[in-house]
Amino acid sequence: MLRETLQALDLKPGLIVVDGTVGAAGHSLPISKAIRPGGLLIGLDRDQEMLARAAQTLTGQPHQPGSAFRPAEDIVLEHSSYCDLPAVLERLQVPKVDRILVDLGLSSDQLESSERGFGFQTSGDLDMRFDRTRGAAAKDWLAQATVAEITNVLVEFGEEPHSAELAPLLSQMARSGKLETAANLADAVLSVYGGRGAMQRGSHPATRTFQAIRIHVNSELTHLQRFLTTVAPECLKPGGLLAVISFHSVEDRMVKQAFQDTATWQSASAKPIAPSALECKVNPRCRSAKLRSAIRA
Ligand SMILES: C[S@@+](CC[C@H](N)C(=O)[O-])C[C@H]1O[C@@H](n2cnc3c(N)ncnc32)[C@H](O)[C@@H]1O
Repeated sequence: MLRETLQALDLKPGLIVVDGTVGAAGHSLPISKAIRPGGLLIGLDRDQEMLARAAQTLTGQPHQPGSAFRPAEDIVLEHSSYCDLPAVLERLQVPKVDRILVDLGLSSDQLESSERGFGFQTSGDLDMRFDRTRGAAAKDWLAQATVAEITNVLVEFGEEPHSAELAPLLSQMARSGKLETAANLADAVLSVYGGRGAMQRGSHPATRTFQAIRIHVNSELTHLQRFLTTVAPECLKPGGLLAVISFHSVEDRMVKQAFQDTATWQSASAKPIAPSALECKVNPRCRSAKLRSAIRA
């Protein structure tokens, strides 16, 4: 939804723009060009590997490990959650910004990485953290969580219909060291689905489980809630614009509800913008994407 997002952001030279989930800089690259001259792009990501990818996209040069993420005079990349934007702005001595974009979830690079454990088609360590410098990896959380906690995560964040069978199996496997990789987790889900393990409405049966555990391990909804209710209102100038791309119905509901606070937000889109049929055909992963935007009152 690059075209739709850039349209919603209504960019002009001189604006200060935050890309709160810079990823591979697919959005940041055209944003950086649209706000020149005189603009400033601040790109954030919880994943240092994605910041290196972004720096490479923005400069056209491989990022030198250990060097600062400063691809150009008017672009700053910071290893930070979008929740910690106020601290980043304070460090940069930028009081408030004109636009903020957050594109939630994970990037194709993360999903396809054989080392991160995000994708059920990979054999990597079952980690799933965006920020590998803090928090517990998925396999460690599964080994110490109760069956009730695992069930709750599978239901709340994955709407998993077989959670009652799956949660005790995952707990027992993790505690006995048999849930070390993404492939182990995908096999466990398939064993519970048995003959029902064929593609469900076009998606692999493990899709929901991987999504649910990832959302929990990264406290994604806690970050989003704090960002929507406190951080974005505090950091945007009056008349500034927030655009959010979500992939999960729970996230979209949170954005919709936050934008109903008319003392804080104006001109919120009544309906979310969805990707075109053509885009869904080219990139099936984006079929659940929804874009909403609103203006800071
Ligand atoms: C869907 S991708 C963004 C793709 C990006 N818009 C692009 O065009 O390349 C989401 C990115 O957000 C990052 N992320 C997830 N939660 C975050 C958070 N709370 N703060 C900052 N980055 C986050 C992930 O590490 C990932 O790189």
